[in-house]
Amino acid sequence: MCGIVGYVGTNNAVPYLLEGLSKLEYRGYDSAGIAVNVNQQLQIFKAKGRLKNLETILDTSLSSVVGIGHTRWATHGAPSDVNAHPHANESQTIAVIHNGIIENYMEIKEWLTHDKHVSFKSETDSEVIAHLIDYYYEGDLLDAVYKAVDRMEGAYAIGVIAKDEPNRLVAVRKDSPLIVGLGENENFIASDIPALLKYTRNMLLIENDEFVDLTKDEVKIYNSLKQPVKRDIYEVTWDIDSAEKEGFEHFTLKEIFEQPKGVKETILRRLNAKDEIVLEGVHLTKEILEGINKVYIVACGTAYHAGLVGRRAIEQFAKIPVECDVASEFRYRDPFVDEHTLFIAVSQSGETLDTLQSLREAKRKGARVLSIVNVVGSSVARESDDLLYTWAGPEIGVASTKAYTTQLTAFYLLALFMGQLNGKLSDARYHEVIKELKLMPEKIERVLAKSPEIQKLAASQFNNEKVFFMGRGIDCDLAYEGSLKLKEISYINSFAIAAGELKHGTIALIEDDTFIVALASQSNLYDKMVSNIKEVKARGAHVFAIAKEGSEQLEKTADEVFYVPNTMDELVSILAVIPTQLLAYYVSALRGNDVDKPRNLAKSVTVE
Ligand code: M6R
Repeated sequence: MCGIVGYVGTNNAVPYLLEGLSKLEYRGYDSAGIAVNVNQQLQIFKAKGRLKNLETILDTSLSSVVGIGHTRWATHGAPSDVNAHPHANESQTIAVIHNGIIENYMEIKEWLTHDKHVSFKSETDSEVIAHLIDYYYEGDLLDAVYKAVDRMEGAYAIGVIAKDEPNRLVAVRKDSPLIVGLGENENFIASDIPALLKYTRNMLLIENDEFVDLTKDEVKIYNSLKQPVKRDIYEVTWDIDSAEKEGFEHFTLKEIFEQPKGVKETILRRLNAKDEIVLEGVHLTKEILEGINKVYIVACGTAYHAGLVGRRAIEQFAKIPVECDVASEFRYRDPFVDEHTLFIAVSQSGETLDTLQSLREAKRKGARVLSIVNVVGSSVARESDDLLYTWAGPEIGVASTKAYTTQLTAFYLLALFMGQLNGKLSDARYHEVIKELKLMPEKIERVLAKSPEIQKLAASQFNNEKVFFMGRGIDCDLAYEGSLKLKEISYINSFAIAAGELKHGTIALIEDDTFIVALASQSNLYDKMVSNIKEVKARGAHVFAIAKEGSEQLEKTADEVFYVPNTMDELVSILAVIPTQLLAYYVSALRGNDVDKPRNLAKSVTVE
């Protein structure tokens, strides 16, 4: 989704804006632009396509101590120079960048057009913001922004500069991410931490309905009633290197290889010396858990797929019934949720709008809300009663990889914790599982060491347009995730199926050389999977199987077998998904795709 940056200081804003925008590229965008104030004249530069297109139209002598920048992911109006941000009022005295959607923009636009004779240039909803601020502007930018925001409905993180206030930057947020970076003689705004990490580690996390007034010396935060708000500085502890490629060709590959570290962090930060799980942000007690009769896991995309595995873990270890739903469905179907429901939201970004709105809906209905989130201080994190961070570090590639395996890890910890709390899990079993869970980082390393096997397979299959993923039990959940990964970065029309469903229709599609990824990691379902593999082989398919060490007899049936280290059936998901991630990566790279920023996709989906 759109990314915003802003600078006010003593240096030239332009390189800061461009650098910040380059760090937000991962969010997904199709045009970019900046606005600066040069000798009390606003100058705006915008270009469709990648940032380099913007850079080529910039005047190299351009210099200004204040500026705003934007990467746009088109919603209202096609990707084009004119629809790109910043937008300005007619006399170009106000320039605005916006991430989100102004839901009542048509109504405002009609009023401005017919009653105030304003003419619009773009098809965007965002342009109304510039005209509205201009309408209310009487020499105080913050004041005008307050009045304009009062008329707007929807989601927004907005940055504004004015021609007549060349040392001031104003911002406001509601339901779209916004942070402030504190520098020396300079201050910043951005959608996300990586955009500012080169310049400062000291951040202020801006909350909903807060306004920010920035100059080079000062940052003031106000609530919706214009009362000053105090905010503690959030010091970013992870390194800038985490947001750099460090020699890997793509962030996606780097992040796949960071999984041992992410999983290790997620586990070890939660275990004390006696191997007891200590979940700092989770305030569930035995009494609270006794009052819970149902768990609802809600998320989107890959996070939803992690939820499917989480459902099995909670049912298995804590014996509480669990439903799992995609957020865009959950929020519109009046689900049975009440004060006896534990609602679990899962989100890497913590800003996915459907997930956030589902969380609010569940809260309205009285549920207790626990979230599993990667981005510290994000909206989902802030609005939850209980919070379990995944310690994956920043995930830049649009395709979620390390976020997924750390979400699985978090679910295992949570399920074990709940099982101990409600007495449904014996101590012996608990320690058996914990012992195995602690071995996961090293076992992931062993899987990654075999990546050349997957690279070789990808080289033989990357042009195959007919790809199916199938599995049973947890492997079925992994099949959905593997297929999504392949689709989103390779653009191959693959799909996933519960292997037992094949005979009920889909097998009609199997023909010579259909490429099947068959996940066969579950001991109790192994024989059934072998039968399914035989069925598709008999119809000409090429089968790549993923199984645990010790399943060598599969070699008689499948064309290739990838072995993951032996582990418990319940935990194998963390290992068995990795070959599917690597496959998607290598296929995408071989097809010459933009692996980290696949077409049409955004890293953080902050619109419906
Ligand atoms: O930030 P979130 O985890 O809430 O994002 C949810 C999905 O948009 C995300 O997982 C998406 O499906 C990824 N592109 C998958 O790789």
